[in-house]
Amino acid sequence: MAFSDKQKQIFKFGFTKYDAIIADGAIRSGKTSAMMIAFVLWAMDKFNGMNFGICSKTVRSCERNIIKVLLGVVYLQTHFTLHYTSTEGLLTTSRGNKINYFYVFGGKDEASYKMIQGITLAGILLDEVVLMPKSFVDMALGRCSVTGSKFWFSCNPASPNHWFYNEWIKQAQSKNALYLHFTMDDNPSLAPVIKQRYEMMYEGVFYERYIRGLWVKAEGVIYRKFADKPERFILDTVPGDLVLINVGIDFGGNKSATTFVCVGITTRMRNVVVLEAERHEEELSPSELDDKFIAFAEMVYANYDRAFKCRADNAEPVLIRGLKNAALRNRLHCNVVPALKREINTRIDLVLRLMGLGRFFVMRKCKTVINALSQAVWDDNDKRLDDGTSDIDTLDALEYSIEEYMKELIDND
Ligand SMILES: Nc1ncnc2c1ncn2[C@@H]1O[C@H](COP(=O)(O)OP(=O)(O)OP(=O)(O)O)[C@@H](O)[C@H]1O
Ligand SMILES: [Mg+2]
Repeated sequence: MAFSDKQKQIFKFGFTKYDAIIADGAIRSGKTSAMMIAFVLWAMDKFNGMNFGICSKTVRSCERNIIKVLLGVVYLQTHFTLHYTSTEGLLTTSRGNKINYFYVFGGKDEASYKMIQGITLAGILLDEVVLMPKSFVDMALGRCSVTGSKFWFSCNPASPNHWFYNEWIKQAQSKNALYLHFTMDDNPSLAPVIKQRYEMMYEGVFYERYIRGLWVKAEGVIYRKFADKPERFILDTVPGDLVLINVGIDFGGNKSATTFVCVGITTRMRNVVVLEAERHEEELSPSELDDKFIAFAEMVYANYDRAFKCRADNAEPVLIRGLKNAALRNRLHCNVVPALKREINTRIDLVLRLMGLGRFFVMRKCKTVINALSQAVWDDNDKRLDDGTSDIDTLDALEYSIEEYMKELIDND
């Protein structure tokens, strides 16, 4: 592998006076691949018989994104003996009579939090550090008590209010950290067409962060392209190649509305089309909820003539059970199951990406969805504003109906 100049700086870091390295910036810019190899080479050069930490958001993502890749690096294979035991989450690396131990941790895994408390480390690599709780990171850094130990951070930018930005990036100098900012041009393996494809995938604040690699605040209208020109996304005729129908349900109460959103997905998981949407602002008793739901489900079946799934807000298991029973009793052609409820910004990103790619549409009659997408705004904390001034309930239902197809709709890897 030939490395870019920026990547080479990562390799040199271990042999400088800096105590920490921070590599932030665009997706696919070559941060992780350079850092994990540099980390192992540094550890093997400087230490023997020591423990190190390799952390990602979860142990699983660490194994998938780092360990698996490390084990395949030919240079490491030819110079060291590498062995990974998944039951222990332990990678041992040896050469001659030198051996070091790399433990895998997940910043969001409860078990990792406990495990790391008892260990002494000579260095730690925190990949995607902004996705980890500060408490975990502080704890992990506190375990690095071996002389000469160093911290290795990498991440994509988040909000400038993020703790990592304030405590590490802004204070890189006083913390004696080497700060490197990566763009896609720092990854020598990215062909221009691939770069372009990634650039097309992101919209709005996520474009600024993931493509331009900037720590920017999420402000203003969320679905900017949609809000500017809704007509571009509105259809008058239902596409003839729908292959899948799915319904999302958000339950009302506490001033929020009950919403049903039905989407269709076209052949080869190409386009998402919002086909039907209902919003009930009034407080519904369980039997009223059943009736509204039955009427909606019957209408969907009558209009699109195929069985479908309903994904309902899983904070309300009793209501889900009620709808499930209603579906059985009334022989509705649908199955009611809990929504996956991924993180809100992940769901927003999915819709924004589909919009950016020109693969998201709404039927003209679905006024509540058109309004909700036009009006949604960011709050001050990198979240979608949810103060009753915009229709979040409709957006939740819309997202529940498509989030399970995230992988099929948008190939992440
Ligand atoms: N110098 C290189 N030579 C060949 N391939 C490379 C090189 N650097 C990176 N790559 C490849 O480019 C892809 C993206 O690199 P990498 O995962 O390191 O980026 P990243 O900055 O960590 O991205 P993200 O922010 O999305 O995690 C990987 O498939 C990696 O193997
Ligand atoms: Mg990475």
